Amino acid sequence: MNKHIGILTAGGDSPGLNAAIRGIGKSAIRSQEMDIIGFRDGFRGLMENRIMRLDLQVLSSILTLGGTILGTSRDKPHKMPVGNETVDMTDVICDNYYRNNLDALICLGGGGTQKNAYRLALRGLNILTLPKTIDNDVANTDVTFGFHTAMEIATEAIDRLHSTAHSHHRIIVVEVMGHNAGWLALGAGIASGADVILIPEIPYDPIEVAKAIRKRQQRGNNFSIVVVAEGALSQVDHNTYVELKEKRRQSKEKKDKELKKDLDVKLEKFKSHQSKNTVRLSQELEEMTGLESRLTILGHLQRGGTPSAADRILATRLGSSCVQYIKEGVSGAMIAVKGQGTEAIPLEKVVGQRSVVPLDHSWLMSARRVGTCLGD
Ligand code: F6P
Repeated sequence: MNKHIGILTAGGDSPGLNAAIRGIGKSAIRSQEMDIIGFRDGFRGLMENRIMRLDLQVLSSILTLGGTILGTSRDKPHKMPVGNETVDMTDVICDNYYRNNLDALICLGGGGTQKNAYRLALRGLNILTLPKTIDNDVANTDVTFGFHTAMEIATEAIDRLHSTAHSHHRIIVVEVMGHNAGWLALGAGIASGADVILIPEIPYDPIEVAKAIRKRQQRGNNFSIVVVAEGALSQVDHNTYVELKEKRRQSKEKKDKELKKDLDVKLEKFKSHQSKNTVRLSQELEEMTGLESRLTILGHLQRGGTPSAADRILATRLGSSCVQYIKEGVSGAMIAVKGQGTEAIPLEKVVGQRSVVPLDHSWLMSARRVGTCLGD
């Protein structure tokens, strides 16, 4: 009898999701051992049992499509918004897994999805995951799909901002996505020859940034491109953030729920992608250098549209090898990229960790060597 495999996509969408769905679906169907169904809108669709048949007809021609044909959501099984409440729907999700006679469920997502999938694995479901996010911050994989495309899009956008910055003798501050990890800002910044790159891993001093811009002015370059990851913080803000986190830890220890709630809100505001920090930085740089400054927020543009060739290949590799791992009986693991191959990494080695840019990473060293200011 054929194995029944379910797929869902959760968290923020990412170029390459459809290529991965196709990779899983075609390999599964061609194996003649597996039937495949999709659940719409992430864990919510599994909870509501909203199914999409994934036959060869549906799977053909989705390779180049952006987004996800299954739809996605950020809803978590154990904290599902239902009406005005947040309810633990894990039992309903488990029931639906068995109701559909699933032998395995493949969850495609970033760090949050890996955690949610792990919770289901702990409940006894056969779970496999693939690492997807434009942020490239999933632990224990060389890379995630979606990252390469987003880096290409951001690079092209910054290339275009260069000529207008140059013509108007302006500073252009460009905010790219990346809350906790600076891979996207760093990669796109290096590729586009940004003059300043600010990432969450290196708290910045606005005075140092202004100095770097002034040095360029002295050399006759009356324009500068400043690439900022949305999670980058000034040194002052970073210190406040660390203090708040410590207070939150203490409130948790003391079981002071009210204080913890209050601190959660404050911390969320700090790292939220409201771009407030970037707006302030742009104004500060204008004041400190005397150059006009303009701000561009690339936002969701970086997540939309067709995946790059590299992401199509990566997603196909991961999707098709995931089916092989299911055949071998692997479960409770993320299929990670390791060099030219793939590896099944136990989910407990993935969750609760994040891949951030190491301070001695070769990309950072190269940026410093060519004179890019990193704000420190
Ligand atoms: O999926 C990752 C990401 O694109 C982050 O880079 C960004 O901070 C966040 O999602 C934006 O989330 P949303 O699309 O829910 O606004």
